[in-house]
Amino acid sequence: MLILGIESSCDETAAAVVRDGREIVSSVIASQIDLHRPWGGVVPELASREHLEKIEPVVTEALQKANVTVQDIDAIAVTQGPGLIGSLLVGVCYAKALAWGLDIPLVGVNHIEGHVYSVNFENPPVEYPALALIVSGGHTNIFHIPAEGQYKVVSRTRDDAAGEAFDKVAKMLGLGYPGGPIIEKLALDGDASHVKFPRAKISDGRPDLSFSGLKTAVSRYIKENTIDPLQNGDTPTQSIKDLAASFQRSVVSALVDTLEKLAAGLQPKTLIVAGGVACNMALRQAAEAAASRLNIPVCFPSKHLSTDNAAMIAAAGYFHLKHGERADPTMTADITLRLQNLDVEQLKGKAKYRL
Ligand code: KG4
Ligand code: ZN
Repeated sequence: MLILGIESSCDETAAAVVRDGREIVSSVIASQIDLHRPWGGVVPELASREHLEKIEPVVTEALQKANVTVQDIDAIAVTQGPGLIGSLLVGVCYAKALAWGLDIPLVGVNHIEGHVYSVNFENPPVEYPALALIVSGGHTNIFHIPAEGQYKVVSRTRDDAAGEAFDKVAKMLGLGYPGGPIIEKLALDGDASHVKFPRAKISDGRPDLSFSGLKTAVSRYIKENTIDPLQNGDTPTQSIKDLAASFQRSVVSALVDTLEKLAAGLQPKTLIVAGGVACNMALRQAAEAAASRLNIPVCFPSKHLSTDNAAMIAAAGYFHLKHGERADPTMTADITLRLQNLDVEQLKGKAKYRL
């Protein structure tokens, strides 16, 4: 089955042609990073306008690179949510019109489920039960996946996503956007034990995560130690490098300690670490070390599949299409889309924070 995947949930317009959910025939990503950089973050109105400009050329390029025409496509999978509404709508409307015009099946995909499936291309097939840490700019969750397609959130951030924390700390230090790759680079020359940041404690004892206190602690440290944010072209000082390394270590150890504790209890057959922050080598090394202590294999997507892309959306869509799921004509973008589909009853009225 040849699936055209379409992704436009945030600041990447992406299209990919994927065969049978596991083979990338083509993958095209138009990143808007340069457009948003002057604002230090994604500007939703600019993002949706840019998606409108790029969606047609990006899909055309994906088809050309795959050496196929639209007539060769068997089905379309599109990111339905969560994400920015104006951005999502561009992909969803385009996909609906194309599927309707071609009279082929369409399926709406949860973006987070896409990140779970980003490990599908370069790893052996995932064995279930699995435990997946999905860490990106918008989301930080650990999912227990007892069988393919079944999700229970076993840990979530109560406030900021891990990638968001990287971006905000980079902004405070005048490092640029997106912050994750810049902080990772500076941290290579920094002393991670230089600043000891306290680990957030969750009062109800759940294995949840929190990064806003860490962000405040970094901000306080910057003021108390009179660290000046960089101006354009400044060379980063050793104290900025030490701070970057210490901050990164705090985020990585909070994520990996939680993953390890949950894995020790749930005993999954596979660990998955995916999402934009999974590009971070310190996170990968710590997750690999935890996986070897637990004696459980860990899967990562390669870097270009860790950040947003459409191949992962096509891979997740393949699973749903194989199970006969079809989007009806009323399907639309949904920023509140949740991935958890196990024990949802228990959750009703309690989901006050982002999933
Ligand atoms: O998955 P993604 O492309 O978009 C969302 O769905 O949010 O993730 C983007 C996030 C940004 O916050 C970015 O700073 C972070 O991933 N990121 C990193 C690294 N590369 C990207 N964070 C830490 N280290 C990196 N090397
Ligand atoms: Zn993402």
